[in-house]
Amino acid sequence: MAKQENVGFGVDIGGSGIKGALVDLDEGVFIGDRHKIKTPKKSTPENVAAVVAEVVEHFEWDGPVGITLPAIVHGQVAHSAANIDESWVGTDLQELFHAHLGDREISVLNDADAAGVAEAAHGVPEASKGAVIFLTLGTGIGSALLIDGRLFPNTELGHLIIDGRHAEHFASSAVKEREDLSYKKWAKRVSVALNEYDRLFSPDAFIVGGGISRKADKWIPKLTVETPVIPADLRNTAGIVGAAMAVHDHLRP
Ligand code: BGC
Repeated sequence: MAKQENVGFGVDIGGSGIKGALVDLDEGVFIGDRHKIKTPKKSTPENVAAVVAEVVEHFEWDGPVGITLPAIVHGQVAHSAANIDESWVGTDLQELFHAHLGDREISVLNDADAAGVAEAAHGVPEASKGAVIFLTLGTGIGSALLIDGRLFPNTELGHLIIDGRHAEHFASSAVKEREDLSYKKWAKRVSVALNEYDRLFSPDAFIVGGGISRKADKWIPKLTVETPVIPADLRNTAGIVGAAMAVHDHLRP
């Protein structure tokens, strides 16, 4: 087990579950199991923060807490809300979580930003070198822009409008499921998004995370983008690990 000062705690708030775990900050892995509670049906800030407190109490953890949100987090205020209640928009996140978690250090950051930071520190070597676009393909498309492992936060590339549509509305993995697309058809759509990102940013590599990166061999070879596309190494631990890293490093977007 890591030395006490290298133990952190992260919570990942998603549309379906709120998950937390103790994190070994040296290795970027969980210490013990994660604990998951269903996201409340009415996923308002108050309801969700109460569940976050339950997750933290489950571990009897009284140290700093890093928290991810599927939202733009600027100045520790939520500026958007994807798959969570709209009343998050405009919420002062420090005030909200301090009311539920008491007096301790708290950092809140975008879910894909957290995953990207974790991948750069503990994932594939390509994630920490040069100009990298890290993407999570899931219900939406989340993005983290990294330069030598350092984060440019809140990039929201899933909402880039391509041919009149938000990228995540035609190329997320949820769309693949919903429309029952073959890997070939879906890869064509992902290629449209990646080629547009490529044209705008000329990254050295794309790193792709999210559940579907587990089946990378089924679709990455079918992509038509020239820049290398590399599956992420950290899977469903990335958000929690990145959240714990963020608060440890006093990163507060
Ligand atoms: C949200 C992002 C989030 C991504 C993945 C998008 O719809 O706008 O903030 O990172 O989904 O959850």
